[in-house]
Amino acid sequence: MKAKMTLARELTVGSIDRRLYGSFIEHLGRAVYGGIYEPTHPTADEDGFRGDVLQLVRELEVPVVRYPGGNFVSGYNWEDGVGPVSARPKRLDLAWGTTEPNTFGTNEFMKWCRKANSDCMMAVNLGTRGADAARNLVEYMNHPGGSAWSDLRRSHGYEQPWGVKLWCLGNEMDGRWQMGAKTADEYGRLANEAAKLMKWTDGSIETVLCGSSSRQSPTFGEWEATALDIAYDNVDYVSLHQYYENRSGDTMSFLAKTLEMDEFIYSVLCVCDYIKAKKRARKTINLSFDEWNVWYHSDNAPYERWSMAPPRLEDIYNFEDALLIGAMLITLLRHCDRIKIACLAQLVNVIAPIFTQTGGGAFRQTIFYPFAHVSHYGRGVAIRPIIDCPKYDCKDFTDVPYIESIATYDEENGEMTLFAVNKSPEEGAALSVNLLDFAGWQPVEFLSMDGYDKNAVNGFEACPVQPHANPLPAMDGSTLTAQLQPFSWNVIRLKKQS
Ligand code: AHR
Repeated sequence: MKAKMTLARELTVGSIDRRLYGSFIEHLGRAVYGGIYEPTHPTADEDGFRGDVLQLVRELEVPVVRYPGGNFVSGYNWEDGVGPVSARPKRLDLAWGTTEPNTFGTNEFMKWCRKANSDCMMAVNLGTRGADAARNLVEYMNHPGGSAWSDLRRSHGYEQPWGVKLWCLGNEMDGRWQMGAKTADEYGRLANEAAKLMKWTDGSIETVLCGSSSRQSPTFGEWEATALDIAYDNVDYVSLHQYYENRSGDTMSFLAKTLEMDEFIYSVLCVCDYIKAKKRARKTINLSFDEWNVWYHSDNAPYERWSMAPPRLEDIYNFEDALLIGAMLITLLRHCDRIKIACLAQLVNVIAPIFTQTGGGAFRQTIFYPFAHVSHYGRGVAIRPIIDCPKYDCKDFTDVPYIESIATYDEENGEMTLFAVNKSPEEGAALSVNLLDFAGWQPVEFLSMDGYDKNAVNGFEACPVQPHANPLPAMDGSTLTAQLQPFSWNVIRLKKQS
């Protein structure tokens, strides 16, 4: 097939907030225990953090990590996880049916974040608790000293405040599976009061209102409108969560899910702007897509109830998942004018790009690579190309373009990167890109992931699914031509020639 693309400065979407490449660690399964924290592991450092995992997280360059949940946070007493470890209680975690030992808590996570070069996006419990516990946590984390909660932090050995800027007002509060689930009215009022007290405690923080737990939630749309109407003045972002699956084995519909993701994003933006209009507000509410991924491979895996850190949600990702993750990253970038934060859910072991063996090694899942590429090279501004390419119909969608693509352009470093997925299983694409006002730019690297069976996976024994380098695309004047293989993830990097 032939695909034509046009890139011009006028097609700029907006500047890319680095927090678009965030991730998530929940007290769930082996994300914390056996994942980021394992004091008896051969690579563990003086804090008990696994060195091999820290290295992989640094390699991903994750600017922000959401913590401690997820469903877990809706029953969490943050006080259980601070102070002398020997005095910390074991608690039943009703979200995941396990026992939480609390040997790892807030201060340990903050120390880990520093070592991972990440900031923390902290979630407060608005399920079983409320505004008081939330504002106390802000005081404990961010107040310099001279008050009960900040002095408690200092007595725990942390003299300096942690200065956490980003705060989630609960998690998926519309979900019947959530501890302390609420109606939109109840949630809007609680989130508003909690955010108000949290911001009175530290005026520099930003807050994220829970949107629906997914686009499929029965109250989707109405939930966002009602809660935002109540809490508008005290919140900065609305959250979106979405996981995709391919239980039916219909790969073409699976790879087309980004059309639905686009719709989802547009709809939430429309609700935010509707409430803005209704209130004649000056403030614009932006989006935090703080849970997104593929999740289904681990369905119904058995575990021992009330055990500590049993394997849960341990999806092993295949090559087609990596293609969808690439397309989802492109979709996030297509909306970078309004999506300021996004978190790949999650980071280690639990539906994650990094997978470990407790006491053993660690490997990069297939989805690690497109995330790493976009996190490394997706800097500056995003440019939405005009794409002319064949389209396909499938069970769930019609008119799905085979080629999905975005360009990023970093003026300061003189770098431009084109990310593209070819969703066709059989046909390669002869891509020609008209660089218009980017004349004189030259390709310096062409990476791709292609040639694998759609079900190919990585593992402890071997990691066959990896990116490889290709010959550089040809340039003819300001036209770049490249061959995109069938079923491929592509990264074409260009530099401005001086
Ligand atoms: O990421 C796994 C779970 O998915 C989270 O705990 C919850 O917020 C969502 O339903």
